[in-house]
Amino acid sequence: MSLEDVTREKWATRIGFILAAVGSAVGLGNIWRFPFQVGQEGGAAFLVIYLLFVGLIGIPAMLVEFVVGRRSERNPINAFDRLGHGEWRFVGALGVFTGFVILAFYSVVAGWVTRYTFASLTGAYFGEPSVYFNSIAEGPAAIGFHALFMVATAVIVAAGIQRGIELAVKVMVPALLALLVGLIGYAFTLEGAAEGYQYYLSPEIGVIASNWMSILPAAAGQAFFTLSLGMGVMITYASYLGEDRNLAVDGGWIAALNTLVSILAGLVVFPVLFTIGVEPGSGGAGELFVGVGGAIAQVPGSRLVGFVFFGVVVIAALSSAISILEVLVSYAIDNYGMERKKATAVISSVVFLVGIPTAIDLDVLNLYDQITASLLLPLGVFLTVVFVGWVYPDSAEEVAKGTSKGSDGTLPTAWLWYIRIPILLVVGLVLVISAIDLYGTLTDMFL
Ligand code: TRP
Repeated sequence: MSLEDVTREKWATRIGFILAAVGSAVGLGNIWRFPFQVGQEGGAAFLVIYLLFVGLIGIPAMLVEFVVGRRSERNPINAFDRLGHGEWRFVGALGVFTGFVILAFYSVVAGWVTRYTFASLTGAYFGEPSVYFNSIAEGPAAIGFHALFMVATAVIVAAGIQRGIELAVKVMVPALLALLVGLIGYAFTLEGAAEGYQYYLSPEIGVIASNWMSILPAAAGQAFFTLSLGMGVMITYASYLGEDRNLAVDGGWIAALNTLVSILAGLVVFPVLFTIGVEPGSGGAGELFVGVGGAIAQVPGSRLVGFVFFGVVVIAALSSAISILEVLVSYAIDNYGMERKKATAVISSVVFLVGIPTAIDLDVLNLYDQITASLLLPLGVFLTVVFVGWVYPDSAEEVAKGTSKGSDGTLPTAWLWYIRIPILLVVGLVLVISAIDLYGTLTDMFL
């Protein structure tokens, strides 16, 4: 054991890890990205495939990252070295790269949300929601709020793992749930509620059968994005985790809570969209803002409701953004011996710069989103699964820790074979379809 092992921070409380991981998972992916993916991919049919992906692929894949993290007690790049396979470092490096790209556009979207929080107080978007969204989504103002959000994220990360992240998340998760439940109650009374529920909750098998080529990669991308998989966040968080925790139990809780928030968000957004006559999917990246913003304008006490709603989304986005920045920063600290505050300042400045093009042009934002969610994240998941399933010998042993039930090895062994073959096949298929898709998008954009 080296000195590093002794001094490495651990989560302060047992629940700290789960809360921080939930804080990472719950974010714009649930409240902004999920509804617009459902809208673009045809409603309930997408919801079904997405739920299958979370349960059948997402949770086992989360265990894969936990294994690498807890076993190595390192950031995603050094983890592979520590486990005796330095030649796999490139997977960690890919994750760090992916993190830069995701955080760059994530911060821009979070900047919009920050702006809406303040704009609620004056009712600025109440009159013409879509005109307002279009006026703030691109340009200097978008860059300004992007900068503001990056600074807030950097301040928390600079404070260090326990004080900053754990504390922020303990307040945020319960607040978000309470607020969503309140808004669902309101949405239930709207005249478009029935139509909204129908669209959101009653799947048509025909839609799945004819659109699976587009639903499959979208659902996989959304599952990985929302669970914070594929770039090393869960590796990093699990690296601070004690041996007494059972990885499968914690992973199940994290995925369940996260999925709950998405489903609740949909129960607000779709009744609202049908009530104000905005077709789901037509709003694209602005769907949440135009749809929910337009509805908030109508409720009693709208300024306060809007302020609280968007304020909570900002906090959810913050706890996700800090998880991404933490990976990048812990890498700079461990590998270049940089001081935490300096590393945070340098890295968040670079992320800010990389995000500027997405704050200028929505098409660029969509491109960053597509490249990361449907290609880079599945690629990261695929490679990490290959490593844990086929290359590293002690994976099942790590999963068996912290439980009496699994210690006879049957559950961990079943999991191992499950990730070795079925998961690799499905994620491999997703990758192929996504690569073809992306090629199409790029040729449309540039040729
Ligand atoms: N899961 C977060 C959300 O839904 C975003 C996020 C945080 C993320 N860390 C990640 C996405 C790592 C992919 C990989 O908003």
